[in-house]
Amino acid sequence: MVAMAADEINPLRRLSLEELRLRTSTKWTAYPSDVLPLWVAEMDTPVAESVVRAVTRAMERGDTGYAGGTEYARALDVFARERWGWEGVVAERTAIVPDVMLGIVEILKLITAPGDAVVANSPVYPPFYAFVEHMDRRIVEAPLDEAGRIDPATLESACREAVAGGRRAAYLLCSPHNPTGTVHTAQELAAVAELTAGHGVRVVADEIHAPLVLPGARFVPYLSVPGAESAFCVMSASKAWHLAGLKAALAVAGPGAAADLARLPGEVSHGPSHLGVIAHAAALRHGGDWLDAVLTGLDENRRLLAGLLARQLPTVGYAPPQATYLAWLDCRALGLGDTAASVFLERGRVALTSGVPFGTGGSGHVRLNFATSPELLTEAVDRMRQAVA
Ligand SMILES: Cc1ncc(COP(=O)(O)O)c(C=O)c1O
Repeated sequence: MVAMAADEINPLRRLSLEELRLRTSTKWTAYPSDVLPLWVAEMDTPVAESVVRAVTRAMERGDTGYAGGTEYARALDVFARERWGWEGVVAERTAIVPDVMLGIVEILKLITAPGDAVVANSPVYPPFYAFVEHMDRRIVEAPLDEAGRIDPATLESACREAVAGGRRAAYLLCSPHNPTGTVHTAQELAAVAELTAGHGVRVVADEIHAPLVLPGARFVPYLSVPGAESAFCVMSASKAWHLAGLKAALAVAGPGAAADLARLPGEVSHGPSHLGVIAHAAALRHGGDWLDAVLTGLDENRRLLAGLLARQLPTVGYAPPQATYLAWLDCRALGLGDTAASVFLERGRVALTSGVPFGTGGSGHVRLNFATSPELLTEAVDRMRQAVA
């Protein structure tokens, strides 16, 4: 029998609950210790060996100064060519940024002014609202359709509203989409490019979940579709390799947005951690086997969750996501209104994320993070059933 390399063993099965409870990150400290935390997007995996080695080596060498250079961009370029057949990560059109959300904020500052609108597809990752409003822009919602897909007519009317009065506007595309796990197709993205261009709306694609596309779907980088030349994307290894604590991300400009990205103030690139850049680049260059093992485990978990819900909570709606480790659960038939997350927490001791802050379409829903072991996922659904029994 051939022994499996450590990175190929399902990383979601490697840590016990006792080991996970030693963590001090937000996932593990926000709730009392009898609560199973399946809320914020952190994974219950160890870190890939290649990343541990790269960061340890940097520590040993005292390579602990400020971030710089183009290694993040070059590592993403290699990854993007291999995984997606995309050659658009050109180092000269990239910038390291502190993290994805702050990268988005800085790009929005380049292409919009205070008071301008930013279109987003609700229900969507709540910080889209929080960060955009914090920088004095307005969110204009273009709700996804019933199947969780972008509706061109809805997007078109949101774009029209956003540019009313001759204002500049941006469209913050979440690709793949958090919380539904929708993977937008090449045709859908081409339609987005055409209709946003028609209204002069600039596109910023948050592609943080791109490496987490699960079997059966294919990720299409927004900048690879025809007509997307003046867009930006922001990418990071933080979600797929569980590195949110090692701050770094990469902003990438299409050819028609290079001049805008060149206006990014130099101080923005002081924000990312050098150790973060080292960790993310190592993940992208050497963490492929680890990622594949995670994707296999997540694929198993999304199916396990379907079976558990069908047996234990059959009225809860769940469409297994095409990407990510986030399950968007329609709890409206439970008759709990917007209290489902608090009922599961208080009676079941399971922490999920309430759908309400995800905007229109979030009411009556909860988001469950299944990047955990099959045992904890099974235990969580059992507790949820008991909470509403
Ligand atoms: C769609 C999306 N964008 C951004 C982030 C946050 O990324 P960062 O920590 O790099 O700002 C998350 C985190 O879950 C996310 O799901």
